[in-house]
Amino acid sequence: MKAQLINEGVYCIHADIHTSDLFEGIWPIPKGVSLNAYIVRGDKTALVDLVRDWTGAPQQFADCLSSIGLSFSDIDYLILNHLEPDHTGWLKEFMEQNSKVEIIATQKGCNLARSFYKETAAMRAVKDGDTLDLGGRVLSFFEAPNLHWPETMVTWDAVSGTMFTCDAFGSFGALGDRVFDDEFDSAEHVFFEEETLRYYANIVSSFSSFVEKAAQKLRDLPIKCIAPSHGIVWRRNPEKIIERYLRYASWAKGPADKSVAVIWGSMYGNTEAGVNAVIRGIEREGVLYTKRRVPDDNISWVLMDAYRSSAMVLAMPTYEYAMFPPMSYVLDIFRRKHIFGKKVLRIGSSGWVGGAKKDYEAAIENLKWENMESFEWFGYPSTEDLKTMEEKGAELARSIK
Ligand code: FEO
Repeated sequence: MKAQLINEGVYCIHADIHTSDLFEGIWPIPKGVSLNAYIVRGDKTALVDLVRDWTGAPQQFADCLSSIGLSFSDIDYLILNHLEPDHTGWLKEFMEQNSKVEIIATQKGCNLARSFYKETAAMRAVKDGDTLDLGGRVLSFFEAPNLHWPETMVTWDAVSGTMFTCDAFGSFGALGDRVFDDEFDSAEHVFFEEETLRYYANIVSSFSSFVEKAAQKLRDLPIKCIAPSHGIVWRRNPEKIIERYLRYASWAKGPADKSVAVIWGSMYGNTEAGVNAVIRGIEREGVLYTKRRVPDDNISWVLMDAYRSSAMVLAMPTYEYAMFPPMSYVLDIFRRKHIFGKKVLRIGSSGWVGGAKKDYEAAIENLKWENMESFEWFGYPSTEDLKTMEEKGAELARSIK
């Protein structure tokens, strides 16, 4: 892997991670993820963000540095925009190779470096508007709290117009030997757009109001390049990824795309028959829909589909006087990830006694949804039940047209 030149003295280095490990211990990354970091050179050299020891990432970074005649020991300043261990996990080992480096982070970031890594080296805490003179090049720092953890900041290089944004504007998906937006074809951009949405829904969605605040704060800067810590580096169309993130942020308040996310679980096919009837109604109205079964389909994609849709069908049977358990987990994640502002139809069967409806209604209490009346039946749905559910599906679809 080689360092990629962004502008004179500014390089992207990255490691591609291909693993069956889960990102953050939760989210699958079947197409990998990149860990990006950046070199900025004046008389002194800064490294913006680090890496964790994950599938050989430090060696990949070392190879990139070597391609521009650098090694870890040449770094004068280590700027840590964000302390999550995917960007800092290798800090102790890095410090063993470079004891003279000065760490730059927000005060909360410095505190986390001490708490995560028991780091005792010199650290400089910076706040909004502080600068770092590299000699012939000055970097500026802007605090971006909760984008996506409280200690986060972004780093600005005015000479090249590059904003180093850490997780913000990032995506899942490994990059290979290209990093820039103008190096990927349209099919590859479709892939990264989907992986950006999944990344946003999984990692960033709870912090959507902070995405909007950060964009507002930085909007007057002449940004020529958005350089995130995961995914594509946007040097041709930085406004594209900014607009994409702002569009996603607006979905936390609803409405989103004109589509329905059908999320369902079924024990013996009785609830599934109801789902199929609802889908016939949605199809009759010509509205787009996605379909995910729980627990078979991973929560990462369930969340992505829910986040991008204006309406949802949630279908689950009663299980031991309450909701089918995988759906309880889905609703808990929806609450945490701010799946708000949706129009929702809930259906489900029960065998002996009910209970899912009461459990469900308690679980969605704070979700700010516009709810249609739940529809429940015992055993297999009758012809009349199926007709009713088809009509409800059509009504839900019409409501978002
Ligand atoms: Fe990529 Fe929040 O770390």
